[in-house]
Amino acid sequence: MEFRYLGNSDTKVSAVGLGTWQFSESWGVTDYRTAKSIVGRAVELGINLFDTAAVYGRGMSERFLGEALRELGIREEVVIATKIPGEFLSRHDVFKATRRCLERLGTGYIDLMQVHWPPCWDNFPTCEYMRSLEELVHLGAIRMIGLSDFPPELIESAWSCLSTEDLVSVQVKYNLVERDAEKEIIPYAEANGLSVLAWSPLAKGALTGKYTPENLPSFSDVREGSALFHPENFPKVYELVKVLKEVGAKYGKSPSQVALNWLLMASDRVIVIPGAKSPSQVEENVGAADWRMSLEDWMRLEEESGKVRITRVIW
Ligand SMILES: NC(=O)c1ccc[n+]([C@@H]2O[C@H](COP(=O)([O-])OP(=O)(O)OC[C@H]3O[C@@H](n4cnc5c(N)ncnc54)[C@H](OP(=O)(O)O)[C@@H]3O)[C@@H](O)[C@H]2O)c1
Repeated sequence: MEFRYLGNSDTKVSAVGLGTWQFSESWGVTDYRTAKSIVGRAVELGINLFDTAAVYGRGMSERFLGEALRELGIREEVVIATKIPGEFLSRHDVFKATRRCLERLGTGYIDLMQVHWPPCWDNFPTCEYMRSLEELVHLGAIRMIGLSDFPPELIESAWSCLSTEDLVSVQVKYNLVERDAEKEIIPYAEANGLSVLAWSPLAKGALTGKYTPENLPSFSDVREGSALFHPENFPKVYELVKVLKEVGAKYGKSPSQVALNWLLMASDRVIVIPGAKSPSQVEENVGAADWRMSLEDWMRLEEESGKVRITRVIW
């Protein structure tokens, strides 16, 4: 497994991490044993980065992940990244929410605490929550600080609130058909030494090759009403999937592996965190690391994906 540093820290994480939003009703892995088998397989295959959040299944994801890591006896060997939602960012709530995360994860420290999204309705001053996070580092409750779904201007102002700690990462939606992060955030991260944790790197399964315009996900999960799978968008996505298949055939790789590999090649700051609902999906996703497609193939995908324009105005 290839590894990449988290920001300018000395912590190395696997270039392919595991997203665990899947451990929730939103995605359907609500059985602890399945979750444990996914985490266990990920660890066996060299994954050491696990992304969760307080909101995933209202704590279910954190509980399952923490329990699995404890039973596997490998807490010290992995990096747990969790998140506080944008509504819990008053000074008091940052402390309270962190304590709850620690309890649910059953751990004494969180490796990477991320602000899940900026406060939208509540008017919390940026430096209030950033300095609270810094205090939590001093108190030993968290090791590193990251942001998620922040625009560059706000990353910069949030970062400037920190006096003794560094910001190490930003988390962004980034996949072959949703590449807006390339316009501002990724260049900003590269210029400033931040890691980019790419969420939905498989476009919620749309790039895996198992869905076709005639065979869409059941929509009994988080993808219900999703723009990606809407008839205005999915046929265009599917054209790209066909190219992913063609390119993959040259290397003995699946569309998912090619789609993730493309992101890892796009920037050495990128770390992908695909979600998995079974150990076999983890196995496949790990196969995205430790190889490179040719420049010609990378450019072909760059060009073909540039033709896919997702509209969100579907109603
Ligand atoms: N910071 C944020 O705001 C934010 C937002 C969203 C997600 N995230 C994080 O990013 C992680 C990943 O994003 P995501 O869950 O939105 O989507 P994703 O990783 O793009 O897609 C995951 C889904 O694709 C399917 N899949 C995965 N690997 C596969 C494989 N090898 N073969 C076939 N199907 C496969 C599975 O669903 P099916 O089998 O049902 O198709 C899986 O649930 C989350 O778990 C979470 O940790 C963060």
